[in-house]
Amino acid sequence: MTLAETLFGSTSQGEYSLALMNGELRPCPVGREIAIHSPTDGTLLGQVAALTHDEIDAALASAAGAQPAWAERPVEQRAAVLERAADLLLEHAPTVARCLEREIAKRRSDSLDEVRRSADFLRFTAEEGKRLSGESFFGDAFPGFKRNKIGFTYRVPLGVVLAIPPFNYPVNLAISKIAPALVAGNAVVLKPPTQGSLSALLMTVLLLEAGVPPEVLQFVTGRGSDIGDYLVTHPRVGMITFTGSSATGRRIARLAGMVPLLMELGGKDAAVVLRDADMALAAKDIVSGAFSYSGQRCTAVKRVLVTEPAAEALLHELLPRVKRLTVGRPEDDADVTPLINHEAADYVQELIDDALARGARLLVGNQREGNLLWPTLLDGVTEAMRLAWEEPFGPVLPILRVRDAAEAVRIANASEYGLQAAIFSRDVNAALRIAARLDVGTVQLNGKTARGPDHFPFLGTKSSGLGAQGIRYSLEAMTRPKSIVFNLAEQAGLEEVA
Ligand code: NAP
Ligand code: G3H
Repeated sequence: MTLAETLFGSTSQGEYSLALMNGELRPCPVGREIAIHSPTDGTLLGQVAALTHDEIDAALASAAGAQPAWAERPVEQRAAVLERAADLLLEHAPTVARCLEREIAKRRSDSLDEVRRSADFLRFTAEEGKRLSGESFFGDAFPGFKRNKIGFTYRVPLGVVLAIPPFNYPVNLAISKIAPALVAGNAVVLKPPTQGSLSALLMTVLLLEAGVPPEVLQFVTGRGSDIGDYLVTHPRVGMITFTGSSATGRRIARLAGMVPLLMELGGKDAAVVLRDADMALAAKDIVSGAFSYSGQRCTAVKRVLVTEPAAEALLHELLPRVKRLTVGRPEDDADVTPLINHEAADYVQELIDDALARGARLLVGNQREGNLLWPTLLDGVTEAMRLAWEEPFGPVLPILRVRDAAEAVRIANASEYGLQAAIFSRDVNAALRIAARLDVGTVQLNGKTARGPDHFPFLGTKSSGLGAQGIRYSLEAMTRPKSIVFNLAEQAGLEEVA
């Protein structure tokens, strides 16, 4: 029986309690089980192991030991493994998606999209990995040097990449780290988000089944608060790629020291709406941008900055669309589903309550059943309210009315975050002038804020990140140039060459 058959057999009954060590599935050690419950109804979905420091050491030693041989393999072979993994992921997409749906309460269609998008990511990365190359230089471009000094570079892997994805994309944001790392010749230690580790386990087993050597891809489970510091300061880690909250990102950056970091962190993306915008388009994109996966996306539209003359027209389009959103269970494909846990819902409620207490006007929502929150739209939000600045990670959208584009830019840039922003206007010249002034990684013109397509650069400024992801960008971040310099003898001509 293959690993995948063993695991997929047990998940269909929804009862696994497993640790994956060096490619071997073992029962969770007694006393060290971490129970994973469904955010939707509290059902016990499975258990993963809280690994000890010794087990983490063994995983890292194994990865470090196996990495040079993996890097020695022709890149075409590493790419072929990723291609096979994409096939397997698609073959098992319904099972993996079902696990996502149950484990992180992502609605059915979006769970399936996450898996398919990950297969597409694997294929594109396999191709792009084969194109990773270097540069060549002649010395005479720099004063004092001659053309007989010739340098060339090629890219080499960084060793063991520690990959830490967040709960909201436990498969896709794991693949977006693992795939470029592997094709570039690194070994990977994946520390999945605890809520999300069952889905990540399924995905990892498929990668192993596809031919990634078990030593080269290690799966290390345990709560970030318990094993995070140990992992990020481990001497065998050659690079850390992290997606998650800015608070955790800052902690890792403080602890990790001289290790290259790639970080995608929190956001407070603004949608700026001007008077001449296509309001129907703006409203459609703002609603899907703000409320898909119940607002639990770093790139969610998290505030609307609308100029006063545009406000009523925008609300006229926005409000009915928010009212039409369905609220319910992920398996029913509801637009808005339960948040990842009750603490997350409490935090969102706190921000709504603060805004209402300070005079915001409730247009729709502010209804709650446990961790299920109804989509909430608040008008008249001001800079005095927490909701203007904090990242709720839930289905609430504040509307801040501004005088003009200059005020929109000022408020947008006053945020500690700088992930993305959107501008809705028919005036391309004005939109470009505004875009140039926004301190964010990406500005979307007449479209919602979003990470994809996955070969685009994806990055944040300020508290939103460090470095750039995106397939080619990730490949570059997970490798470094190796430079070789020829110092040729100076020769007058070819006469003496026989
Ligand atoms: P989080 O609490 O920071 O957790 C992210 C990951 O870090 C999880 O795997 C977590 O493991 C782990 N972790 C926790 N403490 C750690 C530590 N001390 N050292 C090392 N790892 C540690 O974030 P989240 O709640 O999962 O995700 C929500 C946040 O992520 C939001 O702020 C959102 O904006 C941001 N996000 C950003 C992007 C982006 O691309 N910019 C994408 C997605 C999410 P455990 O699960 O075991 O705690
Ligand atoms: O949550 C953060 C993700 O990187 C957002 O990705 O825009 O495709 O939902 P997305």
